[in-house]
Amino acid sequence: MGHPVFAVLYDAVLFPFERLYYARQRRLVAGGAVGRTLEIGAGTGANFPFYDFGRVRGLTAIEPDPHMRARAEARARRLGLPIEVLDARAEALPFPDGAFDTVVATLVLCTVEDPASALREVRRVLAPGGRFRFMEHVRDEHHAGRRFQEFITPAWRAMAGGCSPARDTAAAIRAAGLEIVELEHLRLAWYPVRPHIRGVARVVPQAGADGSDATRAAARPASMPHAAPTPPRTPGAAPAPPAPRPGRR
Ligand SMILES: C[S@@+](CC[C@H](N)C(=O)[O-])C[C@H]1O[C@@H](n2cnc3c(N)ncnc32)[C@H](O)[C@@H]1O
Repeated sequence: MGHPVFAVLYDAVLFPFERLYYARQRRLVAGGAVGRTLEIGAGTGANFPFYDFGRVRGLTAIEPDPHMRARAEARARRLGLPIEVLDARAEALPFPDGAFDTVVATLVLCTVEDPASALREVRRVLAPGGRFRFMEHVRDEHHAGRRFQEFITPAWRAMAGGCSPARDTAAAIRAAGLEIVELEHLRLAWYPVRPHIRGVARVVPQAGADGSDATRAAARPASMPHAAPTPPRTPGAAPAPPAPRPGRR
């Protein structure tokens, strides 16, 4: 069913924060995507204008909330961008292993029901050498700030589409078998959930006894349709082989 009111208000409520901070962060996160790219929890498509379609080769976005998704689709049309917007959840991505060179998430891991599963899925769908680019608001490292986050959590979750303000997302990213290679801590003034992180993570390959990637196999839930090898389905509007990855971190 989703959150119809949240979807209607989302862009308007975020507008001043977009101007103050988020537009710059989106440029750094989405603007660095290369090759076959997946965005999880695209919301209203606020990152879409920031992708560089000279470097991105096929952009697929997933968004489970139908009200948000309709807005993302409308934005892609308005911008004239070839973006495929699918109804899917980050915890069960409908793509084969290694399908993407870049996965992007902004302000999403605070909201997904099971961030650990979502991040294992991110890792699974990343190709060797692929990058996860993220910007999230996170748990406050300061005791007083954390107490404040805990205090506002019930009201915040109700108002902000199920968002939890106090998750330790950097730890969750590492726990999923991704190595953070770039990390910036940001503290936004005039914003109720101030601590944010922006960064880039890469897949850490771990060879099993037979030389296979053991953690990738372990990350794959046996119940999922793509647990068995699937023929490669190239997602995105413009199926293409991976683009060169110029000087990535
Ligand atoms: C705060 S919004 C952020 C939207 C957008 N990424 C942005 O930066 O503006 C969080 C989004 O995550 C989506 N979401 C919630 N649960 C999800 C899940 N399990 N998988 C993928 N997206 C999810 C919500 O529907 C919502 O659109």
